[in-house]
Amino acid sequence: MTLSRRPTFSRAVKIAPSILAADFANFGAECRAIEAQGCDWVHVDVMDGHFVPNLTFGPAMCAALRPHIAGVMDVHLMISPVDAYLEAFAKAGADILTAHLESGPHIHRTLQAIRALGCKAGLAINPGTGIEAVPYLLDDIDLICVMTVNPGFGGQKLIPSQMDKIAALRAMIADRPIHIEIDGGVTLDNARALVAAGADALVAGSSVFKGGTADNPAAYGANIRALRQAAEA
Ligand code: DX5
Ligand code: ZN
Repeated sequence: MTLSRRPTFSRAVKIAPSILAADFANFGAECRAIEAQGCDWVHVDVMDGHFVPNLTFGPAMCAALRPHIAGVMDVHLMISPVDAYLEAFAKAGADILTAHLESGPHIHRTLQAIRALGCKAGLAINPGTGIEAVPYLLDDIDLICVMTVNPGFGGQKLIPSQMDKIAALRAMIADRPIHIEIDGGVTLDNARALVAAGADALVAGSSVFKGGTADNPAAYGANIRALRQAAEA
């Protein structure tokens, strides 16, 4: 892991396309295309068919993607149990490793293990989960991923009740160097409100990959620019 890839902390808006919405037969080219078209992070959705009702890919795919991602590989682990796989994802080159609060009984130990492996530690929270545990984990995280859809699938609608959770987390974090990432249902219509509530990283699958292909990526760039403009309006 080179330091140049490690994200230096900034609360500027980051657009993180989720490759869950990309062409599964062409991931390397898709990652190169979204970076060339101006994304900030590449969001990699790992699903195990147990923690979530869908199955994507594992550490081998992340390792294969690594040479095609010049910037930040933001790996979202929708898996349970999670601890046994952390080293493999770290070795695959993840810059950020995000585990779900709900993925097991020892999330504090999981976050410590992620940092011990040299990755930034992310904590993901499902829509039905409260934030009462977060104050006890603030020293152990670099990112909070607020799930604004029930995890497992792209193309869903953002769950409005999560807006209050974002604002509460922003207040709780204060000036600590902890990103608030929003994951699920991010569109041009809600990007501004999400940032106003306190978010600084927006995961977007459908909103970014619609209308383009890796061979014809201009739409990706237009979608990323539009999302950034909407977020910063
Ligand atoms: C859902 C994933 C999200 C999803 C976002 O479990 O974690 O990253 O791919 O896709 P859209 O932006 O289409 O909701
Ligand atoms: Zn995700």
